[in-house]
Amino acid sequence: LKEEALQELAQVANQQQLNDLRIKYLGKKGPLTEILRGMGALSAEERPVIGQVANEVRGAIEEVIEAKQAEYTAAETEARLSAETIDVTLPGRPAARGAVHPLNKVIQEIEDIFIGMGYTVAEGPEVEQDYYNFEALNLPKNHPARDMQDSFYITEEILMRTQTSPVQVRTMEKMNGRAPVKIICPGKVYRRDDDDATHSHMFTQIEGLVIDRNIRMSDLKGTLLQFVQELFGSGTQIRLRPSFFPFTEPSVEVDVTCAMCGGSGCRVCKQTGWLEILGAGMVHPNVLEKGGYDPQEFTGFAFGMGVERVAMLKYDIEDIRHFYTNDLRFLKQFVHL
Ligand code: PHE
Repeated sequence: LKEEALQELAQVANQQQLNDLRIKYLGKKGPLTEILRGMGALSAEERPVIGQVANEVRGAIEEVIEAKQAEYTAAETEARLSAETIDVTLPGRPAARGAVHPLNKVIQEIEDIFIGMGYTVAEGPEVEQDYYNFEALNLPKNHPARDMQDSFYITEEILMRTQTSPVQVRTMEKMNGRAPVKIICPGKVYRRDDDDATHSHMFTQIEGLVIDRNIRMSDLKGTLLQFVQELFGSGTQIRLRPSFFPFTEPSVEVDVTCAMCGGSGCRVCKQTGWLEILGAGMVHPNVLEKGGYDPQEFTGFAFGMGVERVAMLKYDIEDIRHFYTNDLRFLKQFVHL
């Protein structure tokens, strides 16, 4: 039996065959187990003799199997190690870096300018009450000026805000009559517009509100001039045109000289040399009153601008939809700005 086993073991070529032989010779149904199990039937003299021989044979077979097994284990470890080898001299792959979206970049820049003038940044909800979006801004129900901004209504009283101006009212409520109020508020707004190169049903505004005693139109003009010169360059000029908003009186639209052509007229500013960038005005007494400020004592100014429009001028972008489609070829152009 020993001879036979050792001969077979000598011819083993792989782990599977080794396992088979281990079962064959040492397993529960193997010849050695059989012999040892049969010991009970032997005489007292035979028992130690047979037992010794059987154990010897078992020992010899086990020894060979273990030696073979050690060989296979070593070979397997070796193979695994070489398969897992890492060439540390290979150059690394550069990690793809994200970047701030151009709209957020412009928002941050504008925030920085106003923070430098002592403003704080406020926020408000995008799903807004009709009261804050219209009513408290001097736009009662059925006011024709509500049509200026086609709205997404959710219920009769709740809508997607059409402007960041409701944050004016929310800020006044929070300030509870204290002065000065000096905030800007960036945020998304929603209007029922058909999307094209210059219109989007969702876009971004930045609102500004200042309330104190003796705030005058000249404060508004000086603030905006300072702002555009920091944003577009110190040579930039502004021009105020009379306009209408229900929540400001008087109201103005503000144009800047076109940086592309230094005000001499070009494609971007459609030959006029001026570009409209925001709406503004002195806070309407009705709005001050609704916000808890006595218009006899307090005055203020407010302004609102479209961030996409500013970004399109600053970076000469021709289609507003580029901001939202997330084409990496577009976004990557702003990584280093
Ligand atoms: N909310 C106005 C708009 O969306 C802009 C504006 C804000 C005008 C503040 C005056 C004062 O068109």
